[in-house]
Amino acid sequence: MMSQQLNKARQYEEIHDALISPDQRPLYHLTPRSGWMNDPNGFCFYGGVYHMFYQYYPYASRWDSMHWGHAVSGDMLHWTALPAALAPDQEYDSYGCFSGSAVTLPDGKHLLMYTGVRRTPAEDGKYIVEQTQNLAVGDGIDYEKYEGNPVLTGEDLPPGCSTVDFRDPKMWRDSEGSFICAVGNRPADGSGQILLYRSSDGFDWTFWKILDENKKRFGRMWECPDFFELDGKHLLLVSPQDMLPDGFEYHNGNGTLCLIGRYEEKTGEFTELSDQAIDYGIDFYAPQTVLMPDGRRVMIGWLQNWDACTIRDPDEPWAGQMSMPRELRIREGRLYQAPLSEIRNMRTDPVRHECVISNEEISIDGVEGRTLELDIEIQPTDPAIIYHKFYLQFAVSDEYHTSLIYKPATGILQLDRKFSGSRRAIVHQRRCLVESEDRTKIHLHVFLDRYSCEVFVNDGKYVMSMNLYTDLSADRIRFGSDGSVRMNLEKYTLR
Ligand code: FRU
Repeated sequence: MMSQQLNKARQYEEIHDALISPDQRPLYHLTPRSGWMNDPNGFCFYGGVYHMFYQYYPYASRWDSMHWGHAVSGDMLHWTALPAALAPDQEYDSYGCFSGSAVTLPDGKHLLMYTGVRRTPAEDGKYIVEQTQNLAVGDGIDYEKYEGNPVLTGEDLPPGCSTVDFRDPKMWRDSEGSFICAVGNRPADGSGQILLYRSSDGFDWTFWKILDENKKRFGRMWECPDFFELDGKHLLLVSPQDMLPDGFEYHNGNGTLCLIGRYEEKTGEFTELSDQAIDYGIDFYAPQTVLMPDGRRVMIGWLQNWDACTIRDPDEPWAGQMSMPRELRIREGRLYQAPLSEIRNMRTDPVRHECVISNEEISIDGVEGRTLELDIEIQPTDPAIIYHKFYLQFAVSDEYHTSLIYKPATGILQLDRKFSGSRRAIVHQRRCLVESEDRTKIHLHVFLDRYSCEVFVNDGKYVMSMNLYTDLSADRIRFGSDGSVRMNLEKYTLR
């Protein structure tokens, strides 16, 4: 029996989705059916299609009691909305169905694990918050919460661990078919850690071990873990809260962290080898990955920064979007990201152009729009004379522009949406230090999709993502330099 809460959400979203015309949304980035979206959840391949669930409040464009929204896609670029999958309708999830993941059961059914949050008033006027892990079983459309919920509670935590911050289970099956899940938590030192639980059937779970500990190195609580094998290494992706910047590597606030290490499946022992940020832009958080049937590992994150949510006008019919799908690789010990190859199927109207830009600002015929791919290679016109700066401006009108600026002397690439039309006093700029053998050259692969830009730098060694809510009529593009550069450009309109 469908609960009243889920039924209400499904009716509401169907009506309100129909009121939003497709051109009010991005073309190939997933947005909520109506209202609010945050983290990707349950990102998986099931029944021959990719499923993306997401943190969802259908009734307004702000965070409130969390549901799970749901969409499917054959290529992770064209999404079809499905009815909401979960609503907060039980005592243990009455304050919200927080983030989680999905696996396929041996009988072919689909198993979701999510964090249920309960909030009860305390005597001192505050609230007692309890986070537990819960299951729902379904067929890819309708899900039934498990009668044995919650399956992991405070009793399944090692001594001293927080029952308030115990969330975002990421499940997988190991090479022997056992179910494993990694959950974010806070130990007694107030910092973050990732706990591993095991189960033989996906329903009966027991604590196994601590996979990794923050020990106050990277922010505080570690949210939204993902853990998987890639190119002979193991990657732990987490989203730490309250980070401090470390040079150009991490930025203040809620950020992303990729720990590359070695993992012993038998013992559950993870040894860190290196760390890096996942995204060097402003808006990227809580990513999840999926393994494609052909072996590619693909990541999608929430294209938003918690501290900068006010950039979106609360009167808009939707808020929050997912990033574009990115293929992951390890090269020379680092995480590299590439736009999902299938994006090439969306290419139309190619423009190829080679030119010198010398202390001037130019535009190029046929290079304009807000749903674009731009592949730009920059080098000095004369290798003996290094230019001072190169810049690209997009979403340009007489009033607005958003820029990407590169200075070879410092190797710093800067994204700037200060003049994008934002009326809020939030972070609008981010700088990324591009380490390379020859700083005078830079390769920028830029994707625009109406309200976002994602920049893959030097073959995806760095990625910078940012949303911008500039009026869509601002669609001009210009290029400029201080000094002289040779630019090689390829442009495609994405359709
Ligand atoms: C991360 C997060 C998760 C939580 C969810 C709640 O963005 O805080 O830890 O499950 O959002 O919506």
